[in-house]
Amino acid sequence: MLVTTKDLYLDAKKEGYAIGAFNVSTLEAIKAIINAAMKLKSPVVIETSEKEMSFLEPALVFDIVKELAKDLRIPVGLHLDHGKSLETVKEAIASGYTSVHFDGSGLPDGDNIKLTKAAAEMAHQRNLTIEGELGHIAGSSEMHGEQIIIDKKTLTDPEMAKKFVSETGIDILAVSVGNIHGIYKNEPKLDIERLAKIKEIGIPMSLHGGSGIPDDQIKRAISCGIAKINVNTELRMAYTETLRDELAENPDEIVPYEYLPEEIEAIEDVVEAKIRLFGSDNRI
Ligand code: 13P
Repeated sequence: MLVTTKDLYLDAKKEGYAIGAFNVSTLEAIKAIINAAMKLKSPVVIETSEKEMSFLEPALVFDIVKELAKDLRIPVGLHLDHGKSLETVKEAIASGYTSVHFDGSGLPDGDNIKLTKAAAEMAHQRNLTIEGELGHIAGSSEMHGEQIIIDKKTLTDPEMAKKFVSETGIDILAVSVGNIHGIYKNEPKLDIERLAKIKEIGIPMSLHGGSGIPDDQIKRAISCGIAKINVNTELRMAYTETLRDELAENPDEIVPYEYLPEEIEAIEDVVEAKIRLFGSDNRI
């Protein structure tokens, strides 16, 4: 069933696991994520960034997810990822999304607090979940051939985070602790000490840039209060690389329902592995 996500994150934090929030821009990805979550009896979040949402159309994503989730026993959240304006947040809410992320991390702190608070009020009026972000998470959900150096000034400051959470009223905080979007040549190194300090605030935290983070660091992050982990690049890779290879092997194939099951399976495999790693399997 389609649900709002706050209670899922609170339970995950309490029990020491994290819920996967998986980005989608195709129907195949939506099906694959739901199949994997069903198979492993896991709560799951399906999310779209602004560009993914406008490509798929928010009302359509909502109808598809609602229909696919309607008779399932697993809770499924539909989440706006990195909404950069109140208009986008409003659009996602009006389309039926159950959870929204207002990302004001590119703004001065005062403006970020003001707008995140306004987004939180909008979400809470409808009993929906709101995620805020403090500290900037660099990169984009792609394979990057180069190294990335994270500027320490962009990391989440624990003291500022306390003020941010209390003044905005958010339900979950997206943190910048060495995580980046996409896969770069150098492995990410999470600042676990910083995370442990932010954990003291008490609300669940969200770890973006879930692709390419080594398993042991993911586990340590979960033990420090991470209750939601976003994954996009590894799903995009699984889909596109499988499609590329499959069509190269069968250049005369033109029937989508003949070839797309392989791409669905490739995404499903990635989602299943993440669900097991995050420990959200068999929670239903
Ligand atoms: P990755 O593309 O690195 O998995 O990050 C996804 C993400 O954080 C979406 O907000």
